[in-house]
Amino acid sequence: MTATDTALRHELSDWCGSGGAEEFPYDGVIDRLRAVGKHFLDEELLSLLAECRTLLLEADAGDTGDVRADADGAGDVRADAGDTGRVRAGTGGAGGVRDAHAGPFLDVLLDKFDDRYDYPSYTALALLRRGAPGDRAGWEVLRRHRDRTVLLLLADLIGFERLVLDGTPCDPRGMLPDALLLNKRLRLAVRVMEPAALRALDGAVDPVAVAATPGRTPAGELADAVLRTTTAGERLLLRTSVQPVYVLHDEYLFLRVLQSFEATFAFMSATLDEAVRTLRAEQPGDAAALIAAVADVLRESLPLFSLLATMQPESFRLFRQFTEGASAIQSEGYKTFESYCSTPARARLDSSAFLSVPDVRGEVLAGRETVQGTWEDVISSGWLTEPDAAAVRAAALQLEAVHQRWKQTHYRLAVRMIGTRTGTGATEGVPYLASVISQRLFPAMEKQPAVG
Ligand code: HEM
Repeated sequence: MTATDTALRHELSDWCGSGGAEEFPYDGVIDRLRAVGKHFLDEELLSLLAECRTLLLEADAGDTGDVRADADGAGDVRADAGDTGRVRAGTGGAGGVRDAHAGPFLDVLLDKFDDRYDYPSYTALALLRRGAPGDRAGWEVLRRHRDRTVLLLLADLIGFERLVLDGTPCDPRGMLPDALLLNKRLRLAVRVMEPAALRALDGAVDPVAVAATPGRTPAGELADAVLRTTTAGERLLLRTSVQPVYVLHDEYLFLRVLQSFEATFAFMSATLDEAVRTLRAEQPGDAAALIAAVADVLRESLPLFSLLATMQPESFRLFRQFTEGASAIQSEGYKTFESYCSTPARARLDSSAFLSVPDVRGEVLAGRETVQGTWEDVISSGWLTEPDAAAVRAAALQLEAVHQRWKQTHYRLAVRMIGTRTGTGATEGVPYLASVISQRLFPAMEKQPAVG
């Protein structure tokens, strides 16, 4: 046992001794995790962390009179956490201020230990969703939240990569890329950040320069502008949401890109839901604008794939040995977005595409309303004018075209990274991705003329 291990064990024991009233020793735990990888944390430390989680659950039960179990059966101490993630414990608890982030954090950290490791836990989605506006918040609020999240994730990535360029890398630091590759990585991160920064960060980027040559805003300045505005809660979120399975530098990039896409899918799903409701409420112009906004944000996100293509394939092949069982085929955000466009064909619903996301599949089978289905209904009801029907259809086809580009780029990236290897989501890999390219989000809208 190293001196660091001993110190960390003491910190954790002290925290347990305080009944969870102190701030959880995130730094020590995260430093240890990033030094060895989640897959290689030792059993003794994991057991101690599991005891900490039990203590949190018991303290929570003392406060509320009951212990709530979350969908995984693991403890859930989520509460109204405010900005810093700290809540006041009730009289039955420690009587102090307890840390509401610690429970979800420990659930993510202990996923392999609990034998429930999957894509949502690998990407720490439960942490990223904390503080998100409700799905019915309105599309501008949702887009602001997506923009803010993507800016934070990528600013943090830039900070991590700059440490290598400055000669002071931090963990995970195995197989460091060279400066040429890192500088390319920074430019591509900036490409994704600029449109979000134009909307969400006053004065941080020059709109004229971005329109002329995207990706030229100095990465360090943009990242600093974002990080200067972070709250304590956001800093905690950034610190705790990268939990790599191994020790290689490039896994940090992989996680931040997946998380940026997830923030984008969440916005897309909720906004398409709003588009359906808007269409039902006989406001077709607004529905077309919402669908177009979804297409725009997905288009702006495409360079995330170019950014990820700077991952060294040999790094990826090494660390993906330990991500087995976690695949974006389990992304609920992606399948929710897809199933708001139109109801997927029965064969797709019964394939691993939807069997990997049982909750979303259940919602579809329960009769989720879709953009395409609603569009057809309102056309046959007779109130939709030809120009309005055409506007909705044009926006949908715009989204279709961007999504086709998304799938083709994803396919090419997978060929480059894994070649003929199987997927971590139990498919045959690249052949699966090739087979889904021909599928369409809006098959009927593509075929049909605007008004029937
Ligand atoms: C190194 C980069 C990547 C590789 C090699 C890769 C590979 C794969 C493979 C092989 C599958 C099939 C399922 C499986 O067996 O795992 C898959 C599915 C999928 N991936 Fe990726 N992927 C990569 C990056 C990404 C990124 C950045 C995203 C964004 C979230 C993503 C989203 C998806 C989605 C949504 C599916 C399910 C597609 C469907 O069911 O139609 N992938 N990926």
